[in-house]
Amino acid sequence: QEDIFKNVVSHAKEYGFIFPSSEVYDGLSAVYDYAQNGVELKKNIREYWWKSMVQMNENIVGLDAAILMHPTTWKASGHVDAFNDPLIDNKDSKKRYRADVLVEEYAEKINQKAQKEIEKARARFGDAFNEEEFVTTNARVVEYLSKRKEILARLAKGMTDDLQDVKALIEELEIADPETGSKNWTDVKQFNLMFGTKLGASAESAMDLYLRPETAQGIFVNFLNVQKSGRMKVPFGIAQTGKAFRNEIVARQFIFRMREFEQMEMQFFVRPGEEMKWYHHWKETRLNWHLSLGLGKENYRFHDHEKLAHYANAAADIEFNFPFGFKELEGIHSRTDFDLKAHEQYSGRKLQYFDPELNENYVPYVVETSVGLDRMFLAVFATSLQEETLEDGSTRTVLKLPSVLAPTKAAILPLVKKDGLPDIARKIIEDLKWDFTVAYDEKDAVGRRYRRQDALGTPFCITVDHQTIEDETVTIRHRDTMKQDRVKISELKDIIENEVST
Ligand code: GAP
Repeated sequence: QEDIFKNVVSHAKEYGFIFPSSEVYDGLSAVYDYAQNGVELKKNIREYWWKSMVQMNENIVGLDAAILMHPTTWKASGHVDAFNDPLIDNKDSKKRYRADVLVEEYAEKINQKAQKEIEKARARFGDAFNEEEFVTTNARVVEYLSKRKEILARLAKGMTDDLQDVKALIEELEIADPETGSKNWTDVKQFNLMFGTKLGASAESAMDLYLRPETAQGIFVNFLNVQKSGRMKVPFGIAQTGKAFRNEIVARQFIFRMREFEQMEMQFFVRPGEEMKWYHHWKETRLNWHLSLGLGKENYRFHDHEKLAHYANAAADIEFNFPFGFKELEGIHSRTDFDLKAHEQYSGRKLQYFDPELNENYVPYVVETSVGLDRMFLAVFATSLQEETLEDGSTRTVLKLPSVLAPTKAAILPLVKKDGLPDIARKIIEDLKWDFTVAYDEKDAVGRRYRRQDALGTPFCITVDHQTIEDETVTIRHRDTMKQDRVKISELKDIIENEVST
């Protein structure tokens, strides 16, 4: 699995998808740049989301709120007081870790031991293997699983009651610094994840601001502006994509956990009391959106939260099977009226909706869907990257991206650089580029060009050869099957359209 992940990171760099930020200065930890192909893939994911949320729903509209917001926003939202990670330092190595993550990783190791026993037994007993029975009767597995459960329960309690109980747990379990092996820990401290900055030039007039840690608050504070100017009726939604910033401590997971990242969020405003209906609706709708990309049903699962944030009365994650296991991709939260009420309280303004059908005023309840664009990118990219063994025993690297998301839809390749073939290829490009992102490539043998486009995820390669001069036909090669068809130049647009449209 580690190898797969390394492959993903190096392929992303080699083929111009993702570079470390400011790499000439050795990079900036957990910050990344999207390169020529990455920016297209990312834009296509964003558009795919926007289309399904805004364009396809009469009662959902878009918004692009500023990253900088009045600082009281973050007091009201709870981020100033409660958006913290529990940190612990190792006294010898001076390295800093998230205390809860150290414990969770320890618990995960115990879980892996249990899984190994289960796999061994499955191999031994074959079809006769009954996993349910095995995990409740095999003494070793029972012990591993109950130990893990006990540790996670104590961690959850420590996180809410007293962080020093988490430290005590770390010491009791003899958890060592993953890099140096030292077990000499400091106390656990809270660390706020928001990035601070200043507004204004002179020291006296400067105002302390934060870079937004989520896009959602820009939606909440604009709720009434949008409702009134758009004459929206509850239930309705406001959707937004944009950058968010968090000073994350665990920063070893490529674009999974970044310090500057992009969210795609939608807040759905509903009548109080109807939130659970909408919560279930959006859970299902969002899962179906993910499934529509065709990355495999088995790669998704729900994780319903037992422990809820202070503002929520129900919450679930859609988890995805990343190269390092199932992890959160999207959150669906029933946020009650917490945010709007808090902004009413801090601003002194009413943020109420007059419901003409009920003939009454109320603060709507909110169901939120929030997905990380970079995490979507990683999910799509990592799952699409495949190493195939062909019939002749050779291998090819192919990025089987959903066609709708592919950075380049077709590459136009003159078979040779002479006999007027490049001119015909250029003419085809002139015609197609109004509708699709297309590329031209004349370097190297055509087989190598096919492989290069496979690695970039281009669904079609269109080759212009000598027969083209005679009858205005070209070959069109399909990335996934490598099958080639001879078609008329005039048919190309429809063929591509058919494959890449949503
Ligand atoms: N408004 C709700 C909210 O922000 P969240 O669970 O903190 O909820 C939502 O974040 C989504 O944003 C996550 O499911 C994840 O996909 C993405 N996300 C959060 N932190 C991230 C980070 N540091 N790097 C990349 N994506 C992140």
